[in-house]
Amino acid sequence: MAGDTIDRLVDSLTRGEKLALVRGAADPTGTATGYVPGVERLGIPPLRLVDGPLGVRIPGRPATAFPAPIAVASTFDPATAYRKGAAMAREAAVRNQDILLAPGLNLIRVPHCGRNFEYYAEDPILTGSFAASAVEGIQSEGILATPKHYVANNQETNRVTVSAAVSQRTLRERYLPGFHDAVDAGAGAIMTAYNRVNGTHMSEHRELVTDVLKEEWGFDGVVISDWYGTESTVAAANAGLDLEMPGVEPDEQIGGAAEEEAAEQPTAFEAFADGMPDPANFGLFGEPLSAAIDSGAVPESRLDEMVRRVLGAMDRLGRLDGDRPAGELDTPEHRALAEELAARGTVVLENDGVLPLAPETDIAVIGPNVHEATLGGGGSSETTPCVTTTTAAGLRDRAEGAVTVCRGHAEIEDISFFDVLAGKSTGRTDGEETETDFDSAADAAARAEVAIVVVRDRATEAKDRESLALPGEQDGLVEAVAAANDRTVVVIQSSGPVETPWRDSVAAVVEAWYPGQADGAALAAVLYGDIDASGRLPVTFAPATEYPASDPGQYPGVDGRATYSEGVFVGYHHFDASGTDPTYPFGHGCSYAAFAYRDLTVTGDAIVELTVENTSDRDGCEVVQAYVCPPGSDIERPERELGGFAAVDVAAGTSERLRIDLDDRAFSYYDDGWVLESGEYTIEVGQSARDCPHALSLTR
Ligand code: BGC
Repeated sequence: MAGDTIDRLVDSLTRGEKLALVRGAADPTGTATGYVPGVERLGIPPLRLVDGPLGVRIPGRPATAFPAPIAVASTFDPATAYRKGAAMAREAAVRNQDILLAPGLNLIRVPHCGRNFEYYAEDPILTGSFAASAVEGIQSEGILATPKHYVANNQETNRVTVSAAVSQRTLRERYLPGFHDAVDAGAGAIMTAYNRVNGTHMSEHRELVTDVLKEEWGFDGVVISDWYGTESTVAAANAGLDLEMPGVEPDEQIGGAAEEEAAEQPTAFEAFADGMPDPANFGLFGEPLSAAIDSGAVPESRLDEMVRRVLGAMDRLGRLDGDRPAGELDTPEHRALAEELAARGTVVLENDGVLPLAPETDIAVIGPNVHEATLGGGGSSETTPCVTTTTAAGLRDRAEGAVTVCRGHAEIEDISFFDVLAGKSTGRTDGEETETDFDSAADAAARAEVAIVVVRDRATEAKDRESLALPGEQDGLVEAVAAANDRTVVVIQSSGPVETPWRDSVAAVVEAWYPGQADGAALAAVLYGDIDASGRLPVTFAPATEYPASDPGQYPGVDGRATYSEGVFVGYHHFDASGTDPTYPFGHGCSYAAFAYRDLTVTGDAIVELTVENTSDRDGCEVVQAYVCPPGSDIERPERELGGFAAVDVAAGTSERLRIDLDDRAFSYYDDGWVLESGEYTIEVGQSARDCPHALSLTR
């Protein structure tokens, strides 16, 4: 449909109809997280928005529960984000939805952030590659993507009120690039964050929403508020916010909680007080917007632009012409994809040779939650799977030796504001009693050839983790098992970095993140070496006090301000600058195969080429990382920045030639515009930010 048809529609709409198109309403089918009613007399259909980014979240209606985005990013292969996005979109289509509230792409700044599992990485180029691929994948199936949360939503503590005090350079070099890449990939919508940036709420941040996003980057889609994140009428409308969500009070917003639970909602808002929006923030784009237009505070043309963008979204999807993708749900392909991504995203952090396991090995499977699949953290990304493989069941199915299963520790209970809403939990974890049975765990371990102990953290939207330590007495459990069996493999299922105080006394450490519905099957594929261990860390692991944002002024902030005083030195950039050795560096992961790099070259236009030889007798997958080290500079710059990367399958004893294009942004800094300094750069090529033995020189 052409733009002039949209103009004609805008001309035909009454003020009331226009207002209804820019404010969410209750979905009569009770499925959507957010709903925009159509205008029947003009053939404008309704729009349904539904949560991702782990799977399609409709309470009571199952969907494939994919691994968390941080696990997907660990593949270092953006095509995985495309495939997952496309599959989620097909499932959204079956449920009659139009817009997915995904991908989540905030940069991982604070290791404790409760939502790190919903995001990709601490590095902007890695984040941007995955975000762009996810957008393309989702939109390839007739569903719009909504990159979120724009921008600097890097903590859950006080997420609605906190102001990120962050410089222009830091925004441009760290927090904005992922969104820019998502926009360049054609994202049809974008969700503003709850937090403030330099004092202004993102839903009313004219500079970032209109000047940067819409004008500078040319974003022509819909800017949607986070749920109850519209803070005003005039400021938000004039700043460029196009659609208020959910627009209705909590008890009308069926997608968030079942109707009968609505009466309990105020309790949940209290229990998560530091992280929940004000549920009274609704209806600001209804009558109040009309009044603001009448008074001249908001130009009428602004309402027309908002409507044009919403209609444009429908038009892009072909909905104004009656097109609807059929989609598909829980197919064998989706199940296989969920398993493949979870396996490829699993990172072997240490391995003294105990892995991969021989099939006939007698194993003990130990851990508080081995009788379930670890789906994800709490909050708006919770997905109800159609089918799950528990950790224990997956290992039992694959093992050919004896398998003993023992929990050894009370279950680590998830926390979720939906459970609090439903009165099933208080949402509090303090004072929790932990029952342990280390003796049984140690007995089971002692009788097995290899002990596999599976531990986990607990994370949720609207709360940050209190520490990076494993909750309960899980460190004690690992120690008890390791003391009983010197071939102990620790498998961590976590939202982000955790502390691993026992790592020197175990034979292997494996990070499986939140693997989703295929949990045990994916883990078995990695532990038994059915695929190579090709996952790599998208985030640095270190003790909590050594991360950049570890002083209270930086995180969680003082007097409502979180000062990003570390500037561009986020993640590995900080560890490089401070000279501190992380526990496991960014990009790290141990393959079962072995690789040699040969014939490395870099061209003047910043293309690295090399031959990767698999020198082992196993087929493998190598992740090659190329870092850009700037010349001596007038300004303080990180020692190295990831410029490009590639994941490549290399069969045993063979070689592959590959090419990595380095991103200009890795060469540049921002000073009121991007500056690419001339001089001699070093391009380091290797296997992690701390293991780059190949140096090439490039003059630019
Ligand atoms: C979250 C968003 C989510 C929305 C709708 C908010 O609490 O921050 O990520 O899409 O709720 O469920």
